[in-house]
Amino acid sequence: MKQSKIEFEYEVYNDIGELNEEDAWLLNEARSVTEQAYAPYSNFNVGAVAMLANGEVVAGTNQENASYPVGICAERVLLGTAANLHPNVAIKTIAISYNGDEVKSDHPISPCGMCRQALLEYETRLKQPIRLILGGMEGKVYIIKSAELLLPFAFTSTELK
Ligand code: THU
Repeated sequence: MKQSKIEFEYEVYNDIGELNEEDAWLLNEARSVTEQAYAPYSNFNVGAVAMLANGEVVAGTNQENASYPVGICAERVLLGTAANLHPNVAIKTIAISYNGDEVKSDHPISPCGMCRQALLEYETRLKQPIRLILGGMEGKVYIIKSAELLLPFAFTSTELK
């Protein structure tokens, strides 16, 4: 028997003021776009904004439904939008933020398991890592250099061949 370990590194910034100009701009866009979320059931508004490899910017917000499981997260709305508006263009970076009347948006949140799987498929398919910038409306910001790092032991298409 041999013990194995998986570790990953990520960057921690005290606030948005420590980011470079493009990253700070993207996070501010993600903060703003939370206003377009449709989240009357959770009151948890998530905004995701991507910078694509061709310089285009695409946004997504969570869209809930009275039949709760029908709702879709901001990240997967973004991926579907990017794939349709800019087919076969890699995503360089996605900033993710959140807001809501009942939450204090003062720390980063990270994508749910289903979105991690979807992000991994996107970066694999377009052969470019997706950097993630995670931050609330205020407070610390995390930067993760590839979405893949958030899903160790992922199930991928290689198993299907
Ligand atoms: N949600 C997202 O849109 N992205 C995440 O990364 C976490 C959760 C949404 C789903 C649901 O509409 C609400 O936030 C509460 O879970």
